[in-house]
Amino acid sequence: MNKDVIIACDFKSKEEALKFLDKFTDVKPFVKIGMELFYAEGPDIVREIKKRGHKVFLDLKLHDIPNTVEKAMAVLSGLDVDIVNVHAAGTIDMMKAALKGLMRPDGTRPLIIAVTQLTSTDQERMERDLLITGRPIKEVVMHYAVNAKKAGLDGVVCSPLEAAAVHEACGRDFITVTPGIRFADSEKGDQKRVMTPADAAAAGSDYIVVGRPVTGAEDPVKAYKRCVKDFMG
Ligand code: C5P
Repeated sequence: MNKDVIIACDFKSKEEALKFLDKFTDVKPFVKIGMELFYAEGPDIVREIKKRGHKVFLDLKLHDIPNTVEKAMAVLSGLDVDIVNVHAAGTIDMMKAALKGLMRPDGTRPLIIAVTQLTSTDQERMERDLLITGRPIKEVVMHYAVNAKKAGLDGVVCSPLEAAAVHEACGRDFITVTPGIRFADSEKGDQKRVMTPADAAAAGSDYIVVGRPVTGAEDPVKAYKRCVKDFMG
């Protein structure tokens, strides 16, 4: 079973991201590259971070027609990333196409996980804006997780509070990647429902995604190591 701490490298430029990663000399953390950094710097930032020996979760949340997603995934797979993601709302057909596009000629592929309902979407917005009515949002999240499993995906991004239910519905091997992590003594920022690394581990999270508690720490390497110790035990 894979288990790791992923640092959300939410920086706006290559210079800032690499300056941050330069601080890590004796460890090579798993990093998440999101839309901001990727759109600013393009695929070269992924190549550079991979070259430095980091594993990369490329968080671009693809959502388009199956043919387009399949072809885009083939490009991302060629960047040798370790985890990619899509929106489960793109349908099972789209998720299957994504999986197909990821296959490398040598038979390997990155892990692929699905975003269910974004945590910025609450019950009211889901009903009002998406016209998904008559169901609690948690049921919709679980339905999307089951769809991802049916499509052959490896897991989902979810709250650590949902990790146990996802495992129950989709099996223990189905990966849960969980943001919303805070130390008991750190600022919550804009995150509303948070868990500590140790609690996330107890809740069954397979990977935790940690941003500001590490990137904004006075000593990021120390904060990262604290996270690893708390999460991995
Ligand atoms: O700084 P912080 O620890 O809140 O960063 C969490 C990371 O996880 C950010 O990159 C954020 O975009 C991402 N994320 C999240 N909640 C989700 C999905 C992704 O916080 N539901």
